[in-house]
Amino acid sequence: MIKKISKKLFNFNKILKDLENKGFSRIKNYKSEEKCLKTIKVLETILSLRIKKSEFVGNSNNQVLYNYFIEFPDLLDFVYDENIFKLMSKVLDEDHVLTSTSARNKRILKTLEKSSGTSGIGWHTDTRYVFQNKVPVKPSLSYIVIFLLEDFTKENAATQFVPYSHKFNFRPERNKAYETDFFIGKKGDIFILDTSLFHKAGVSSIKSRWAIFSMYSSWFIKPYFQFDKMFKKKELESLNPELKQLFHCNSIPPKNHRKNRATLKRVQNK
Ligand SMILES: [Fe+2]
Repeated sequence: MIKKISKKLFNFNKILKDLENKGFSRIKNYKSEEKCLKTIKVLETILSLRIKKSEFVGNSNNQVLYNYFIEFPDLLDFVYDENIFKLMSKVLDEDHVLTSTSARNKRILKTLEKSSGTSGIGWHTDTRYVFQNKVPVKPSLSYIVIFLLEDFTKENAATQFVPYSHKFNFRPERNKAYETDFFIGKKGDIFILDTSLFHKAGVSSIKSRWAIFSMYSSWFIKPYFQFDKMFKKKELESLNPELKQLFHCNSIPPKNHRKNRATLKRVQNK
């Protein structure tokens, strides 16, 4: 039932228009409240597990759990979503891949250390630059999907953005006072962002604000991590074809020229 509602809500043409005009799109009520609550519980468990193992979890202002699916494979639901996959096939290409995924909570948690740096602080984009690293590649080669597991409000560090900045042709200045808006949304909503949009994480508060951030890119963009190495061979084989694609299994360059000359598996098999 929930899936049927989601599909109806997922208006591809509207999202594509929004991305072009505003640099972002919001889809309301995509995940159920129950799913959000369940996911938050799991994320808190992963946070505790990683703290015990002294693994990276961000810091006392910003908790970051990269590749959360390692401990809880059920969370792969957030990496591969049928509608998002279809959308990225339209926005990018049919061979698109996952660049990074992390669950983030911009929450003050005094039990953690301040020291470990996290990304997302100060005005930035997540796009790529050329010409001495100054000019953004347009149109963008990557898009971000944010699953809101809790409400995003001005008081609990909703991500901030500069309206229409996806059309700018220069790099943002980290500390400049740009005209600012906020991604205000409800738990269960999704935001989809053009990575050229200037944005920054909000100011941390004691209120929890879990969300899952994933970046998808054209197949020739490097991932932040070697996703295919995070699984045992059998586990990797058992994943659905879309997940294998997202984890770059179909776009690893051949070892040398003797077996294949094409990078994409789809092209190799032709
Ligand atoms: Fe970012």
